[in-house]
Amino acid sequence: IQLSLKKISDIKSDARVYFVVQDTLATLLPKIKPLFSGIEELAKKQKFSGKMGQMLIVPTIDAEHLISLVIVGIGKADSSARALELYRRALGSVVRACEGRKVKSVTFALPSADFFGLKEDELIEQTAIALRMATYYFDLYITDKDRLIESLDVTIAQTDDAMQVAADRGLIIGKSVNQARYWIDMPPCVLTPTELADCAQDIAKKQNLKITTFSEKEINEMGMGGLAAVSKGSNQDCKLVILEYRGKKDAPTVALVGKGVTFDSGGLSLKPANYMETMKEDMSGASAVISAMDAIAQLKPEINVIALTPLAENLPGGEPTMPGDIVRFYNGKTAEVRNTDAEGRLILADALAYAVKNYKLDAIVDIATLTGACAVALGPFFTGLLGEHDDLIDRLKQAGKKTGDAVWQLPLTDDYKKAIKSPIADICNIGKRGYSAGTITAACFLQNFVEDVPWAHLDIASTAFDVPDISYYRSGATGAGVRLLIELIRGWK
Ligand code: BES
Ligand code: MG
Ligand code: ZN
Repeated sequence: IQLSLKKISDIKSDARVYFVVQDTLATLLPKIKPLFSGIEELAKKQKFSGKMGQMLIVPTIDAEHLISLVIVGIGKADSSARALELYRRALGSVVRACEGRKVKSVTFALPSADFFGLKEDELIEQTAIALRMATYYFDLYITDKDRLIESLDVTIAQTDDAMQVAADRGLIIGKSVNQARYWIDMPPCVLTPTELADCAQDIAKKQNLKITTFSEKEINEMGMGGLAAVSKGSNQDCKLVILEYRGKKDAPTVALVGKGVTFDSGGLSLKPANYMETMKEDMSGASAVISAMDAIAQLKPEINVIALTPLAENLPGGEPTMPGDIVRFYNGKTAEVRNTDAEGRLILADALAYAVKNYKLDAIVDIATLTGACAVALGPFFTGLLGEHDDLIDRLKQAGKKTGDAVWQLPLTDDYKKAIKSPIADICNIGKRGYSAGTITAACFLQNFVEDVPWAHLDIASTAFDVPDISYYRSGATGAGVRLLIELIRGWK
């Protein structure tokens, strides 16, 4: 994405995108009419009034060049998070329209930032992120050349050089979202725990981050019985990867913990075939955390961040964990494993316990594709947010509004905690019948491993993969949580 001081009409590209405030198409006519005199008639026919997301596209000739004029409605001035989100989706729709028309370069005249209650640099950053996300396509295994999409050159007209830093920040964030998506979309036979640990290693090297990787042997020796139990039925070794970013001495330290089950068959509590189809997505939390660290290291906020990702493959082979087994975690607590498909909480428990024991933390946030129940509760448009620490919860809610990586809080009260009592161990890995609320009882389980560190839990089971209708996503991975975590860290004061 380049910025240009020039006017949009003076920049050579295959498409020009203009945003129109509702009922103000007239103000644009002097620019459009000389190139396409039928604009008013077309607008009338298509009932275009400039409502948010409406779009008119006209091919025309300018200086002997075939170009497309794209006119996008943005409704009325609105500083709500919703309006900004609809703007992102409008950008996504423009990118899709460009793809459909084989447009290779596009120039935008952005709307005024005031319109969304933003500063210009904030709007440019959000624009860059959304455009970058919209152009992501997992084409690694597509051999049919016709299906490949060429990259799109984007220019933003009439802004000054000072805004380039904002565009660059947006690109760092957008790239890191797409990197997480790429790992998630990768087939599980390729993206094993070892492979994802290697990806983290590459990032540590590139960004000069401290990295520690514990092997399966070390995990067993340290008494991480949850992580070991999940990996038991798999020939792939489990790992615990820890990345450390030091932004400033004596500044607060936040830990981010991401679930990294590179494939979740359910284990002996085997999933039905159709529930397993997309279970390569079960490492989305780990991907989000590792990729967020990549961006954080480049954006350099003055805070310290520790990322921990327990990585394992949940299979029923060899000598798997059996329903009825009892595991002992890093902090000495025990859990009865009644269902080997509730494995996310088992690996997170060890990682959380390790984090609170070995670091002096001001907050800890975990992110996981943890429960199908979250899809029932919230559907694909909100990540579940749980916790009892109001300040941390508020920070995440604000970050969600600012970035469009939306969260919705679910209750977490003592009433639910009885659901995971076990007669034969400290806790049980599934909730008792009668309590329902699978997302909440899973959070109750995790809460046993954070001691008194302010903690929040993000359940991305329904937001990480195959989210419908959001034009800047595609089918497959969304990168849920990446923008959110980066913003949480960046905005920490
Ligand atoms: N990986 C799943 C959760 C999930 C479901 C993620 C759908 C993405 C989409 C998790 O490990 C799981 O299987 N959870 C069980 C828990 C139950 C056994 C208590 C579930 O949600 O059914
Ligand atoms: Mg194993
Ligand atoms: Zn599972």
